[in-house]
Amino acid sequence: MARRKKIYEGKAKTLYEGPEPGTIVQYFKDDATAFNAEKRDVIEGKGVLNNLLSEFFMQGLGQIGVPTHFLKRLNMREQLVRSCEIIPLEVIVRNYAAGSMSKRLGIEEGTQLPRPIVEYCYKDDALGDPLVTEEHIAAFGWASQQDMDDILSLALRVNDFLSGVMLAVGIRLVDFKIEIGRVYEGDFQRLVVADEISPDSCRLWDIETGQKLDKDVFRRDLGSLTDAYTEVARRLGVMPNNPPAPGKPTLVN
Ligand code: TMP
Repeated sequence: MARRKKIYEGKAKTLYEGPEPGTIVQYFKDDATAFNAEKRDVIEGKGVLNNLLSEFFMQGLGQIGVPTHFLKRLNMREQLVRSCEIIPLEVIVRNYAAGSMSKRLGIEEGTQLPRPIVEYCYKDDALGDPLVTEEHIAAFGWASQQDMDDILSLALRVNDFLSGVMLAVGIRLVDFKIEIGRVYEGDFQRLVVADEISPDSCRLWDIETGQKLDKDVFRRDLGSLTDAYTEVARRLGVMPNNPPAPGKPTLVN
């Protein structure tokens, strides 16, 4: 069997050359890291759950006309995506204060923000992904003014979509991070939502109990990460192998 060419190995995913030019195979690993990989573990099944959940969110975004890099899921751990040039920014949207914003500004976690707040971090592990302003982004040429207008509008559309989808299953979207890629079509470039959307890159709290159903469970040692992600997948109807819901009749041969 021919060996595939590895393009990039990140903390949670590995990218391989795809079957056709302009495509990439994105493999979801079970590795979990936090605090710039100071804390790490292998959480069995995390990659499968994130692959299925990211497919679910990216497909939904596609259906409402938000362009993404997603093409199709290949198997339980891999999806085919369009190759794109990743803009070196982490685009964070916050609806409620939490995490680094709560720390930085002294706002209690869970406080609703007056409106969604969009932040940008420069993607550089060696620097710990520092918060930057649009001034930095323009001055250092990471993205143009037109790109920034498009990125803001994409980020807010993703926020409205994800907030609604999660609300429907009793989950509050506290905040999330996306990455944006450029794809070239002839003389034109288009921006697409890239990377992944999963409980690794969102904060998701149960609306009734406040229970955390995202990577904070790992960051803060709050219990089983697999149980938390499985609960998100179960509520959204996205389960590995579609096991029957408890209580439903099953066919007996
Ligand atoms: P923060 O509060 O730690 O800045 O995180 C904001 C959001 O971004 C949260 O949903 C988690 C997500 N995130 C990532 O996806 N990758 C990261 O490296 C970090 C620090 C946060």
